[in-house]
Amino acid sequence: MIVCSCNVLRETELRDAARAGAKCEREAYARLGCRPKCGQCLSYARQVVRAEQQMSVSL
Ligand code: FES
Repeated sequence: MIVCSCNVLRETELRDAARAGAKCEREAYARLGCRPKCGQCLSYARQVVRAEQQMSVSL
């Protein structure tokens, strides 16, 4: 699923970035070589990154 249409970022890419150590959605975007533009995706992107971090902690 596409989370950020401005950068064509998929949810799986954000989850991979979070597992690789991104601490927040903006850091995840930077690790993927882009940055937020319109900002409409940020709330959901934050949820995705946090959810992935919590899954990593609980494993
Ligand atoms: S949809 Fe992500 S910055 Fe616009």
